[in-house]
Amino acid sequence: MQAPIGCAVIGYGPMHNFGWAHSAWIDATPELRLVAVCDCDPARTAAAKDAFPHIRTYNDVAQVWEDREIQLVSIVTPHYTHCPLALQAFDAGKHVVVEKAMCLNVAEATAMVEASQRAGRMFAVHHNRRHDGNYRRIKEIVSSGAIGEVFHIELTAGSYSEFRHGWYSEKEKSGGAFYFWGPHAVDWVLDLVPQRITGVNGFFHKLVWHNISNEDQVRAIIRFEGGAVADVTWSHIAAIGKPLWRILGTKGAILDTGAGGNVGYEKQIHGPSGGSLTLVTVGEDGRKEEKVPYLESDWEQYWQDVADHLLRGGPVPVPGTVGRRVIGVFEAAERSSRTGQTEQVPYE
Ligand SMILES: NC(=O)c1ccc[n+]([C@@H]2O[C@H](COP(=O)([O-])OP(=O)(O)OC[C@H]3O[C@@H](n4cnc5c(N)ncnc54)[C@H](O)[C@@H]3O)[C@@H](O)[C@H]2O)c1
Repeated sequence: MQAPIGCAVIGYGPMHNFGWAHSAWIDATPELRLVAVCDCDPARTAAAKDAFPHIRTYNDVAQVWEDREIQLVSIVTPHYTHCPLALQAFDAGKHVVVEKAMCLNVAEATAMVEASQRAGRMFAVHHNRRHDGNYRRIKEIVSSGAIGEVFHIELTAGSYSEFRHGWYSEKEKSGGAFYFWGPHAVDWVLDLVPQRITGVNGFFHKLVWHNISNEDQVRAIIRFEGGAVADVTWSHIAAIGKPLWRILGTKGAILDTGAGGNVGYEKQIHGPSGGSLTLVTVGEDGRKEEKVPYLESDWEQYWQDVADHLLRGGPVPVPGTVGRRVIGVFEAAERSSRTGQTEQVPYE
């Protein structure tokens, strides 16, 4: 394959401006070339043409599959369309980046991974928030060994508020309450804790917002080989909050509210972040507590990694098999919430 690689973005939605963000990231990566944007809504392709006058626009994905200049597609559509679109893309011989949530369930994830393998094409999940400034700093601290061995993670977000948010609130289309912010959270946890998952316990509540089909609160407790435990909770009925991250290690801890970071990542493609986290280390001199500023958010690096993979054989940024495990955690948590038992996540 030769640079620049021809790319198309499928889905140029208004809700988070995220088709714009994908287009802008691709446009800003010298070895990638934005050839086209496709959206079934003509008003959205008109908006894309305004922002990127040099592109072609399509209102039917069949036109994308036929366009021989397009080698890579980025799927930025509602969750229930990800699997069918990716299967068609692989059939047409395209490389695929798919937005989170990768798909609705493990069966779909497996079908997508197998289709990419049959086609011999790249399959990457857009877990862009590994590039958030606060997460990059957390990963750096944990990897340095500064807080010792991580054995306990709490990752909590949400509020007490009705989630009326188009198709995102409809479980059949979205996958449920876990599939909005949860893919970022579970991907962060699995990236920080490399050990194999030994089981998931789930607690789902549906108590207040009966006018939508998503759950009100979802919680997954993930156990890892070696004993580490992560507790990931997303709530629409939490009338009092908690810091975003609390990480305990054998030699210290990290507390992060997430405040001041990642502002505007749907409006700009590189983000200086303004926040800081609290780092505690316990050593021979006793307990030391300090504020550590976030790193910059380098979301555009994901797209350079895509180019590096396709042109020079570098690693796939977040391969489909890794994205499949995130979906496996949601599915196991939901099963566990019904059975009351610890449930397993499939490994290949
Ligand atoms: N990674 C992140 O931080 C992040 C942030 C925002 C959104 N997202 C993800 O991006 C995806 C899209 O979300 P959104 O908020 O932009 O949704 P949206 O509803 O605003 O946009 C979806 C767009 O897809 C189009 N579409 C639907 N089916 C199509 C099809 N078959 N062919 C062509 N176009 C089609 C719709 O017309 C719409 O314009 C979701 O997976 C969402 O979770 C990720």
